[in-house]
Amino acid sequence: MLKKWALVFLVAFLMTSLSCTSGEVKPPRLDLSTGWKFMPQDNLDFARPDFDDSAWKTIEVDRTWNQQGYPKYEGFAWYRIRIVIPSSLIKNAVLKDSLIFHLGKIDDFDQVFLNGELIGENLKNVPPGTKATDDFKNLDHSFWNVPRRYSLAVDDPRIKWDRENVIAIRVYDWGVAGGIYSGDLYLAPADLSEYVKFIYVPNLFTFHQKEIEKTLALRNVSSRYRIKGKFYLRMVDNLTGETVLKRKFPVILQPNARAEYSFKVPKLNRSATLYYRVKLQKSLEERVEKEGLPYILTPPVKSEPRINGARVYGQRPGKPFLFRIAASGKRPLHFSARNLPEGLSLDTTRGIIRGVVKKAGTYPVLITVKNSLGADTKTLRIVIGDRIALTPPMGWNSWNVWGLSVTQERVYAAARAFVEKGLADHGWTYINIDDGWEIYGQAREPKRKPNGEIRTNNKFPDMKKLGDDIHALGLKFGIYSSPGPLTCGGYTGSYGHEEQDARTFASWGVDYLKYDLCSYRKMMTDQNDPRQLMPPYEKMYRALRKQNRDIVYSLCEYGNGRVWEWGARVGGNLWRTTGDIWDEWDRMFSIGFNQEMAAPYAGPGHWNDPDMLVVGWVGWSEQLHPTRLTPDEQYTHVSLWALLSAPLLLGCDLERLDDFTLNLLTNDEVIAIDQDPLGKQALPVIKEKNIQVYKKDLADGNWAVGIFNIGESTQTYTLNFQDLGLSGKLQVRDVWCQKNLGEFTNTFRTVIPAHGVRLLKIFRPGTN
Ligand code: GLA
Repeated sequence: MLKKWALVFLVAFLMTSLSCTSGEVKPPRLDLSTGWKFMPQDNLDFARPDFDDSAWKTIEVDRTWNQQGYPKYEGFAWYRIRIVIPSSLIKNAVLKDSLIFHLGKIDDFDQVFLNGELIGENLKNVPPGTKATDDFKNLDHSFWNVPRRYSLAVDDPRIKWDRENVIAIRVYDWGVAGGIYSGDLYLAPADLSEYVKFIYVPNLFTFHQKEIEKTLALRNVSSRYRIKGKFYLRMVDNLTGETVLKRKFPVILQPNARAEYSFKVPKLNRSATLYYRVKLQKSLEERVEKEGLPYILTPPVKSEPRINGARVYGQRPGKPFLFRIAASGKRPLHFSARNLPEGLSLDTTRGIIRGVVKKAGTYPVLITVKNSLGADTKTLRIVIGDRIALTPPMGWNSWNVWGLSVTQERVYAAARAFVEKGLADHGWTYINIDDGWEIYGQAREPKRKPNGEIRTNNKFPDMKKLGDDIHALGLKFGIYSSPGPLTCGGYTGSYGHEEQDARTFASWGVDYLKYDLCSYRKMMTDQNDPRQLMPPYEKMYRALRKQNRDIVYSLCEYGNGRVWEWGARVGGNLWRTTGDIWDEWDRMFSIGFNQEMAAPYAGPGHWNDPDMLVVGWVGWSEQLHPTRLTPDEQYTHVSLWALLSAPLLLGCDLERLDDFTLNLLTNDEVIAIDQDPLGKQALPVIKEKNIQVYKKDLADGNWAVGIFNIGESTQTYTLNFQDLGLSGKLQVRDVWCQKNLGEFTNTFRTVIPAHGVRLLKIFRPGTN
């Protein structure tokens, strides 16, 4: 009886809602996007509902506190808001059992109090009576990029219905930027659709001859409700706007159940989007997600031998020499080299050159690679002199994938994958550990041995062995530290032990050091003053130079004090020009398309570093997800970084590389643009509302040109050669497709999907 009554009510409610909102049902919600107060201090009394916050300043929650008058603040801060929670919110809801606190994204950690009592912490609901501690600071990753959602049962005593409630949020930021920042804060009753989760199963897409196969899972995360409805799939061709395919699947999910949906879609070989929509019975909201369909542009790597990667390599005299010739083609390959400088020898089956060259000089070495199908010969210019990193370093770094959960095994697995998946055959070389290998600053155990030598934590049982194992593969080994006492993750830094750490690193076989400012900032009065920034970096440089091996030196201080102007003077081979990147278009865009100021300072041996690549499976923790950049955005990301002569450091799980990502990272013509020996960073030559065109001068006298569609819809664009300072009839090649497009007179016309790119090589007349 009761059920029947509820149904009548539901129908009546739906109908009234429908009729007054012209077809769109607005679920009830209480907006919390404004009205917050802020205090950049820590005191648990701030949680109390009767605490007097009248003297607190107001703050917006759609951007970090750093962007609102607290530019350098980090650590604890509090947000408070007073609101009446009307019981009508639940009365008008379909599910009347719980109230959800949607609090947006919070950088880095949060504890949420309602009327003085903790209700949630770092994505987890907590039961009444839970005490707030600082234990979360020991967690091995932050949640800065995850929207907070806490749920309370409607009869939870912590909610005061129809009366004033105080929500207080204690935020802890461990650096770079902090606070509540995504703006989408509200209270709402639970909706059935919230219990549906899209699960992107590890094998993202499988490529067949004419089709792409995809498996997507839906999970019912409720342990109470059965879910019934429909899952709609739609594929849209982004260049024409046409719907290519529509499918519909029934959804019936018992509590906690999961179901997989496998489908095949046509392979268009150009930009397309899949739209997923789940509409449930008894739900007011739809769950909608979309996913760019990967499309492979680069032809498969050929079986004939080909020498790839950098054409020039620098090393200092008397230092251990290690260079793996990047070469693709059907194995076995046979390598030979003519004019190798004295002191070097070549492993002819693996293509690894080792030894020590004592005499400075430039040595053009003729390398030949052969297999049963043919041979390729190219000159590698070995420059024994003062400079290293003559082309931007290419490799892998643990941060964007594992964050602080990095382990020795995971690092070695990345090295093995470089070889086994063939990335090393295209020039990918460095395997770099980021933060998290040292002893945690707040741990009880000693951070250093009695003689002061830095200790590794138990995730890194044998650093020397790791270095040896990486070198045995012909790859190079990188490590991370900070000039401060603590790293950004709160682990032991090199402060006061610079010389000793440089010695220890060298004894482990380290070839690359990323030196991250982090806690050193506390010792500075002005974080943008080069006179304060330069000494700690120079100190470590001097220590590195005393070692018996070359160590590429990467300065990481987020671009402070215009590091590009003085980075080379303190020995930097590369320097970060920005804060951290993450896998969202806005972030990648704001970093990548704002590198102009630093361009004049890039060149062989000293590079601008706009941070690492965010392609493949990333996560900054053990929980990984496929990059949220669409395939078009990923083509843009890699093209732009190559044009910028940026270091190319992957931050993804290499054991989980899908066909698309592997293809994206092994286009030798794209890599050649990045590794071009001239080392000239591209500049934007055209900047329009939706289009930006970058041009890079290449060592062979030709140009690499990227036409980027930074707008939100497909654009047809006509490139005027004159705008590039060129004219007449020019040969144009599509670099991603590795295809000559023919000769064009004065203009070149193309169609580019939203956030996508056309990467071209334009030839000086008579050179192709
Ligand atoms: C900073 C750096 C990152 C990473 C982390 C490690 O945020 O910019 O690249 O090294 O520290 O804690």
